[in-house]
Amino acid sequence: MTQTISNPNLKSLIVKFHNIVVALFTHVFMNYNQIFFRIQSYFKFLYYSKNQHGIHSPFVFALVTQCFYNNTKNEAYKTLKNIRNYLYTSHQTIYVTDFGAGSKVFKNNKRKVSAIAKNAGLSQKNSKLLFRIVAYFKPTHILEIGTSVGLATVSMALANLKTKIITLEGCPETAAVAQNIFKEFRIENIEITTDEFSKSLQKYSSETFDLIYFDGNHQQEATLHYFEALLPTITANSVWIFDDIHWSSGMEKAWEIIKNHPKVTVTIDTFQWGIVFFRTEQAKEHFVVRV
Ligand SMILES: C[S@@+](CC[C@H](N)C(=O)[O-])C[C@H]1O[C@@H](n2cnc3c(N)ncnc32)[C@H](O)[C@@H]1O
Repeated sequence: MTQTISNPNLKSLIVKFHNIVVALFTHVFMNYNQIFFRIQSYFKFLYYSKNQHGIHSPFVFALVTQCFYNNTKNEAYKTLKNIRNYLYTSHQTIYVTDFGAGSKVFKNNKRKVSAIAKNAGLSQKNSKLLFRIVAYFKPTHILEIGTSVGLATVSMALANLKTKIITLEGCPETAAVAQNIFKEFRIENIEITTDEFSKSLQKYSSETFDLIYFDGNHQQEATLHYFEALLPTITANSVWIFDDIHWSSGMEKAWEIIKNHPKVTVTIDTFQWGIVFFRTEQAKEHFVVRV
């Protein structure tokens, strides 16, 4: 015999409790799934990756030895560290606009700037690597998709003060924090556009960029959409960097599609980044490199 609960208050309390338990289990399960996926991807990466010794392409060999593995200290690294400390110790709180990709770390829209810098910004090691990549290729025009509080933007801007950087951010309060950093540290070669990517990209899809850093919406469909939208801007010297190519199975699928695109020739997987070249003089070849 089935018994029913007649008290409506008790009934709604049980429904609420049930929903909380389901949400909690889903959250824990998804996080474990995500962590397991990334560990598995990382082991695969370690298995296939090489250092300079297995690389026969002179172009990639030079990039790896002279740029990736260049340990020379640079004065600008101090400024990058100061900017990072400034953001990490900020007490400011802002309301962020979410663009649908959501956040696996934050639960509501009120966030501490320090927490955004720690979670969304690139690591100190990758900040220096990005700096070296820009210093190595000396691009004159850079596009960054996804400014956040500007950690990657300043890494690129300080590497070559002659480079003009256009950086795109949809959240006005986050963009204001980045803008304040650029002003506070007197970095003048950056222009920030605050709008939804689909709108701002329309504005820039007929320009030429020597380097594009894709670090906005880390989802398969969005990544491929930005890739296709910006293809008309490429030259044989373009360098494109995609962040978080092993973030999810969707991002790994996007990375495979990008690698197989007929216009793409050389690619380098550094686990964190997928670096893409369109060098017409070079045969198609994919490298997996430890940095
Ligand atoms: C991962 S963060 C960028 C991190 C930054 N490049 C760094 O390393 O410091 C991605 C940023 O893209 C913005 N964003 C995501 N989707 C967007 C969209 N569709 N339109 C505009 N901005 C978006 C988010 O607000 C977020 O600040």
